[in-house]
Amino acid sequence: MRILLGVTGGIAAYKAVLLLRLLREQGHAVRVIPTRAALEFVGVPTFEALSGEPVSTEVFDDVPGVQHVALGKGADLVIVAPATADFMARAVAGLADDLLTTTLLAARCPVVFAPAMHTEMWDHPATRANVTTLRERGVHVIEPASGRLTGVDTGPGRLPEPEDIAREALSLVQPSLVGRPLVEPVETPEPRDLAGRRVVISAGGTREPIDPVRFIGNRSSGRQGVALAQAAAARGADVTLVAANLAADVTDQVIAGPQPCSVVRVESTAELRDAVRAAGADADVIMMAAAVADFRPAATPDAKIKKVPGQGPAPIVLVENPDILAELAHERLRAGQVVVGFAAETGDESGSVLDHGRTKARRKGADLIAVNAVGAGRGFGTEGNEVTILDGTGDVVGQASGSKREVADALWDAVAKLLP
Ligand code: C5P
Repeated sequence: MRILLGVTGGIAAYKAVLLLRLLREQGHAVRVIPTRAALEFVGVPTFEALSGEPVSTEVFDDVPGVQHVALGKGADLVIVAPATADFMARAVAGLADDLLTTTLLAARCPVVFAPAMHTEMWDHPATRANVTTLRERGVHVIEPASGRLTGVDTGPGRLPEPEDIAREALSLVQPSLVGRPLVEPVETPEPRDLAGRRVVISAGGTREPIDPVRFIGNRSSGRQGVALAQAAAARGADVTLVAANLAADVTDQVIAGPQPCSVVRVESTAELRDAVRAAGADADVIMMAAAVADFRPAATPDAKIKKVPGQGPAPIVLVENPDILAELAHERLRAGQVVVGFAAETGDESGSVLDHGRTKARRKGADLIAVNAVGAGRGFGTEGNEVTILDGTGDVVGQASGSKREVADALWDAVAKLLP
């Protein structure tokens, strides 16, 4: 069952913690909504840890989720314990100045108040009238227990024991609701703006063989490329991922990912070039997310290079690799094909990350270049990313930060605008 546990500001708020635990132990999903005053007595971490749900007091938290309405409408039962005299007065007046009162107005399920206050306050005509009104409106107001109150005084007004509150409250609703999640997830459909489009994405980092066992490589894990592939496939594209030496866990993501993609595995720049050109011949979009080695050893012996005692290492002569992205951008394998590249940059004395990105965008001739800062734990191998999207002239056309999937979707948004 989905239970909302309102907690208002009284000493007995500590018993709400026990009630919360009890309800959770019985298998119910519980979302705690304290008032500001309740947090003077028990802190947010306690409620969050024991409920496993976020805790907020304000309607202004999670505004896009319209949570004051979603929570109230999605609940099977609302329990407010302790309910102070002030809170009941506010409920009677229909005030909606915090998340709890607002949620109450939206709730259509059984509502239970467990009042707790000093006997004088409980007996006051204002409180008596409020309780009567609440009961007339269908709120189940539990009779407070009689006994020791906060100070030395005793009398009616004490919060009943958590077990008693739970039993009385749960008896009002059907047992068949046990086990339902607190808030039904709202499915936001992915845009299908790439339906019918063929896209080729290179991911990972190339390895240039020095000899049969050694290579020159780089730190690219392939995470961003895989996120691009998954995002494109989710938006309806037919995806070919040209995967260069992906990290093991990233390979698993492609294999086990929710979206099917064709995968072509490559190692070196030469293999990557052949694979991208073959798959890209009839593609609508080619996205070069792989970190491609700029240079490769001029010669690759068939045998392992030996260490000869007394002799220093032989120098490795490098030659330049073809710039696959620039080739594709200038040549266009197919009319109207959109070509996108990445520029992993570091700022230096000759210019900022963006300056270098702009220069690269103009030189490569791609339609879009996603520029990101790398180094010092940024970009390569990390979970998140931050990119500035430039067009071929170096103008900024977009910005994205967040998870690599969020960045991927921002890039596809920009690509979708360029597709005929
Ligand atoms: O020049 P730089 O390596 O920084 O450019 C990065 C972009 O160019 C990436 O999209 C990368 O995939 C691509 N690239 C390429 N061929 C190379 C080097 C880089 O396609 N030889």
